[in-house]
Amino acid sequence: MALLAKRVGLIDTENAFKVGPYIRLLEEQGKRVIKCNLGEPDFPIPKPIKDEVKRQIDLDNTHYCDPQGILPLRKAVANYFSETRGITATPDRVVVFPGAKPPIGFSQQTYCDPGDEVVYPSPGFPIYESFIRYVGAVPKPVYLDEQRGFSLTGEELAPLLSERTKLIYLCFPSNPTGGVASQEQLKGIAEVILQRCRKDVRVYSDEVYEHILFDGSRHASIISCPGMAERTILVGGASKSFAWTGGRIGWALLPTAEEAEQFRTLNINYFSCVPAYNQEGCRLGIESPLIGPEVQKMVAAFQARRDVVVAGLNAIPGIRCQNPKGAFYVFPNIAGVCQNLGILDAFRGLPEDVKKRTSPSTLFQMFLLFEHQVATLDRKSFGRIGTEHLHYLRLSIATDMDSLKEGLTRIAAAARDTEGFGRFIKRGDRLF
Ligand SMILES: Cc1ncc(COP(=O)(O)O)c(C=O)c1O
Repeated sequence: MALLAKRVGLIDTENAFKVGPYIRLLEEQGKRVIKCNLGEPDFPIPKPIKDEVKRQIDLDNTHYCDPQGILPLRKAVANYFSETRGITATPDRVVVFPGAKPPIGFSQQTYCDPGDEVVYPSPGFPIYESFIRYVGAVPKPVYLDEQRGFSLTGEELAPLLSERTKLIYLCFPSNPTGGVASQEQLKGIAEVILQRCRKDVRVYSDEVYEHILFDGSRHASIISCPGMAERTILVGGASKSFAWTGGRIGWALLPTAEEAEQFRTLNINYFSCVPAYNQEGCRLGIESPLIGPEVQKMVAAFQARRDVVVAGLNAIPGIRCQNPKGAFYVFPNIAGVCQNLGILDAFRGLPEDVKKRTSPSTLFQMFLLFEHQVATLDRKSFGRIGTEHLHYLRLSIATDMDSLKEGLTRIAAAARDTEGFGRFIKRGDRLF
């Protein structure tokens, strides 16, 4: 009998958390690392939220609370979604979680039986794919096209849908690409889903980056399309909007109170409830008119950095980078660099067991980190299945402008450092 259950080998991870220890290692050696790996805003929580959390702790609001989420926060979320999406949301259908991550896996546990198919964007947030085999479901990645700004249309989604489809993940603005879908595109996607899918198929709309949009564009949501409110799980959270990754609060609006009850039961089984004082902070964040301007300042900073970083990357031979429309990431195509540095040949020459654990973009990611001290993430950190031939990196721009400029200089140097790459491959100790 083996120590670990078979399913343990079926779950994947989020590589963003793997890079941290490597960075610490390099810093202990006295090296300065440019951190373009982080999926968290480099801004403080807006002050009124901080003040509210402190006030709530002073009120001793520090005990167990409703496992579904405290009613004042659920009301605030329901009102906010009703006003911004043109739907009627009610607090009995809202569930609060420790971050917007738990409802991803909870949805698969709640809706999917073995053999059911889960459609999800690739590149996309890694946790969508990570859970699928763990629950016995079947992954059906929908590959987002760089030339179309990593957006998605109904026609692109249609071939992925079948009798076995149970859950469809959408994420706009997207992590890792910053791609968004227009209301028109979402309407097309909704029409395809309504035509082809049974009523019990659920659409998981991950909208955690809804407030981080550039060039004055407005957020569009599939739940606003006719017929979709009955099928959509609408998800938001505090991590990105309020620059509060450590607060661990996210929320979902479920199509029915019965479904919300199932998620509540999972909450009870896993963690009982999430801290009430942080939930009160989020309630204030959603309701207070003081927060919007703070968020807009952060978005303006991201937009200015995006402009510099995209232009800088496009000036490097072998790199081609789309202009993201939201979130705080850029997702350059590095196929040219992989060619120029001999990474593709080096990859082909690796032993089979190493090849399985790496990819050309992983090799460049590790070379960049260990030889040029820029921390990024490779393509397969955002969906592994069928992506070995796709050569991209994700850079977070949630880092100050001077560091980003230094990062661009180092990436440009790495992209012409053929000799350094040769030595790196020969040494062979950091290939995945
Ligand atoms: C698309 C997307 N969804 C969900 C999450 C989870 O965020 P959290 O659990 O911190 O709220 C993230 C975090 O990076 C994300 O990028």
